[in-house]
Amino acid sequence: MDPKTLREKYFKFFQSKGHSLIPSASLIPNNDASVLFNTAGMQPLVPYLLGQPHPQGTRLVNIQKSLRTVDFDNIGDNTHNTFFQMLGNWSLGDYFKKEAIEWSFEFLTSKQWLNISLSMLGFTVYRGDEKVPRDDEAHNLWKHLGVPEKRIAFCGEDNFWSAGDIGPCGPSTEMFYWTGDSVAPETFDPEDNRWVEIWNDVFMTYNRHADGSLVPLVKKNVDTGMGFERTLAVLNHQKSAYETGLFIPIIKCLEELSGTSYVQHKREMRIVADHLRSAVFIIGDDNGIAPSNVDRGYILRRLIRRAIRYAKLISINQSFTTAIARVIINEYGDYYTELKHNQTKVFDELAKEEERFSQTLEKGLHIFEKLASTKGTINAEDAFLLFQSYGFPLEMTQELATEKDIAVDSVGFHKEFEKHQELSRTAAAGMFKGGLADHSEQTVRLHTATHLLNEALRKVISPEIHQRGSNITPERLRFDFNFPRKLTPEEIKKVEDEVNRVIHAHIVVTRKEMPHDDALRLGAEMEFGVKYPAQVSVYFVGDYSKEFCGGPHVTNTKEIGSFKIVKEEASAAGIRRIKAVVE
Ligand code: ALA
Repeated sequence: MDPKTLREKYFKFFQSKGHSLIPSASLIPNNDASVLFNTAGMQPLVPYLLGQPHPQGTRLVNIQKSLRTVDFDNIGDNTHNTFFQMLGNWSLGDYFKKEAIEWSFEFLTSKQWLNISLSMLGFTVYRGDEKVPRDDEAHNLWKHLGVPEKRIAFCGEDNFWSAGDIGPCGPSTEMFYWTGDSVAPETFDPEDNRWVEIWNDVFMTYNRHADGSLVPLVKKNVDTGMGFERTLAVLNHQKSAYETGLFIPIIKCLEELSGTSYVQHKREMRIVADHLRSAVFIIGDDNGIAPSNVDRGYILRRLIRRAIRYAKLISINQSFTTAIARVIINEYGDYYTELKHNQTKVFDELAKEEERFSQTLEKGLHIFEKLASTKGTINAEDAFLLFQSYGFPLEMTQELATEKDIAVDSVGFHKEFEKHQELSRTAAAGMFKGGLADHSEQTVRLHTATHLLNEALRKVISPEIHQRGSNITPERLRFDFNFPRKLTPEEIKKVEDEVNRVIHAHIVVTRKEMPHDDALRLGAEMEFGVKYPAQVSVYFVGDYSKEFCGGPHVTNTKEIGSFKIVKEEASAAGIRRIKAVVE
């Protein structure tokens, strides 16, 4: 089956069950929440999963561009990709377990649809814990459809799904396909990785709050995610998506450029193909970005530079990234038309990055080799030198070192890095909070005002409100939050008054470093979708507000001056945006 047929079958099937087709959201989230990339189809739908009505109704279907970097080190194996596409169907307070399971079963096994033999499938359901009951209902539904009991496994935390520490979540049931060479065993063993997960149905039942409590959702939802790449591999009787129409043209081009074969250099070619496909989708997105040394730009840089290094290992010494990008845009651009609109940008950015890195890669590798053979370890200064002067992302140095079985002083590297960063205090918290442009007095005032605004919205308007993005310049603050409608002038006035009341109460602002879990227990506000490090810094405005944050802030609210909201507008579906100033 070719990619287009699978995509269309999925849409057609769920449309026949009353679902509206919605477009893939941008790979890079629209409101500038610091979640780096969309990692699942549900992410752009969170406001609707929390109860806001969706303009296209209560049954939705789509394919979502997604990117996960947690699997960086697994790229090259059969089943992982950084960029991938997720087929999904949703019920927003409409159908629940029965229909979701029956339809998954029908789509997978019926002749008219994917026609997969039940003998090749295994299923997991949630075994429950002290807060959530065992999912006997899901178990029985599969059983009634004819799944042998030995092919249904009760499992633990993998079957309780959420996108992050807070937000909509619930028990899930996963579908696995047998990819082993032997006949599929009678008993399904989810620990055996020859069983490959292809689809996940999540029964969103709760909203998890920052203190870990599970509050039942007023309307329960279904959120499913089917791995497009994996399913396509299965349907083509291939062990890997790299051997399907999704990658074959890219691999062919790599074979031509290198004069070697895929069979000889599977891992290298898979890494180059995967990483450049991700890079093309990141740059070619309508919210596309360029390589840099921070946040998303850094991930992009790592992808491109690692692709270049692996290309070198298979003797591609000429510039090649734009040739590969051309193949990718050719293959994917009919459906993802943004790639075609943005292709000049894609070619330019790739060519520039390749040019920059190619000049230093060779010398850097030479220095690395010398250090490795003379010192047998890479200390902090050397890792930083490789980064600063030769453009080696730390992860690349670590990977090279692992290949030689030597150590890298990564902790020391970060210290070294911070010494060279003006933003060292922010970096200490492991992240950059919502684009604080500089550390002038005015931005620091606005930053603390942002925390007060965040809390005031919850106190005055709704406790459900949380930060979804923020950006501060010396002129103004910008703050995005979830809320379903425009604020009234009276509400805006009330919020403004509340912030000014706290400013005039002259409250002391303090910072504490603590383990992530302690901060969660304290109920500190965090931004949805952001991954925080194990040790975090939390800012307290007296006992009025507490937030995960790298700072910097004023030491007393009286330094802020007076606070004024200058604009309130829509930012994205379900997301409002406030702009405010301090005087
Ligand atoms: N959101 C669920 C997942 O990503 C379906 O697995």
